[in-house]
Amino acid sequence: MAKYKRILVTGGAGFIGANFVRYVIEEHPEVFVTVLDKLTYAGNINNLIDLPESRFKLVIGDIVDAELVDQLVAETDAIVHYAAESHNDNSLSDPAPFIHTNLMGTFNLIEAARKHDVRFHHVSTDEVYGDLPLRKDLPGRGEGEGEKFTPTTRYNPSSPYSATKAGSDMLVKAWIRSFGLKATLSNTSNNYGPYQHIEKFIPRQVTNVLSGVKPKLYGNGENVRDWIHTYDHATGVWAILEKGQIGKTYLLGANGEKDNVTVLKTILDQMGCDSDYFEFVNDRPGHDLRYAIDASETRRELGWQPKYNDFENGLAKTIKWYEENKDWWIQEKRDVELKYASINR
Ligand code: NAD
Ligand code: DAU
Repeated sequence: MAKYKRILVTGGAGFIGANFVRYVIEEHPEVFVTVLDKLTYAGNINNLIDLPESRFKLVIGDIVDAELVDQLVAETDAIVHYAAESHNDNSLSDPAPFIHTNLMGTFNLIEAARKHDVRFHHVSTDEVYGDLPLRKDLPGRGEGEGEKFTPTTRYNPSSPYSATKAGSDMLVKAWIRSFGLKATLSNTSNNYGPYQHIEKFIPRQVTNVLSGVKPKLYGNGENVRDWIHTYDHATGVWAILEKGQIGKTYLLGANGEKDNVTVLKTILDQMGCDSDYFEFVNDRPGHDLRYAIDASETRRELGWQPKYNDFENGLAKTIKWYEENKDWWIQEKRDVELKYASINR
């Protein structure tokens, strides 16, 4: 039986939040989920539309609305906090919403959690640690070479997005220490899977191919990301909520390091395109080189294991989802690409 029966999920209409809500509804029948989501450009009501009313409620609102947050937290057992402005490129062109949601919103939620003595889980990113050198730049250059992020790695964020996520982590950590907030944190690597907004790397390239547009690679394509399927992120967050130690930070990752050009060429291969069907575009300013998560402590302590250990297989399913759900993304495609074109990315 689940420890917490009434869960408030912020940002549950976004990519990772919606996948978490779907996981809870499918796997934990005794839990009622309330989603608080502002439905920004990244939130999509269709991500939740088919879920049963007996198990789930959507409240459309802003996590910065203190009165609304207080009301919802008063009637909940646990909060899982996903709501955020999440895209690095957007944070470079307009940082203000990142300050609003990621910092002010988190502050509001932890104040309400403190007041009502409610369990809080803060969902964060490996980007708070900054980047690591590319393996090819390290002495040795072999597989398995190179440092990975651990829960004790020093914070060193690069972009306005990651700086606001780092700030939100610090707020949660301070509330734990100073006020005894019953909170845990998780820092997770790049997610992929269904319902991801088409501004992000994998869905952008898949929908480019489906729209007859050449995929776009930033810089030289050598930057490395550590991919985890969003289903595995959901099971990891659930394990932390149920079994995690209060006050602790857990890292979630699935040993999925790949450079961007390799991911793109795998997409091209799986979609039946030539391997050179893409173009290089301007690099992202401050572009982090490499992320890599050491999740061994989380695995040992919580017995959590990712299910999608075969990236090619997870990617094939993801591509199929975008092929079969054209209605979900087609209307936004033109505007997303116009926005990128305006910055030559
Ligand atoms: P997303 O952009 O797809 O979804 C964010 C959701 O938050 C949307 O539904 C949006 O409407 C909602 N939201 C934004 N501002 C809000 C506000 N002020 N009030 C209420 N709702 C608001 O993001 P995502 O990729 O699903 O990321 C979710 C969380 O996971 C974020 O905290 C992000 O930092 C973290 N994370 C993401 C990744 C990744 O690879 N995408 C990896 C690690 C951690
Ligand atoms: O590491 C976790 C983070 O992963 C999360 O905290 C963020 O919310 C999430 O957006 C993601 O950040 P990235 O910046 O790594 O993801 P993005 O999908 O924007 O880009 C992935 C890589 O692909 C990155 O090196 C930039 C590159 N890229 C991106 C796009 C959109 C391209 O080469 N071409 C593109 O068109």
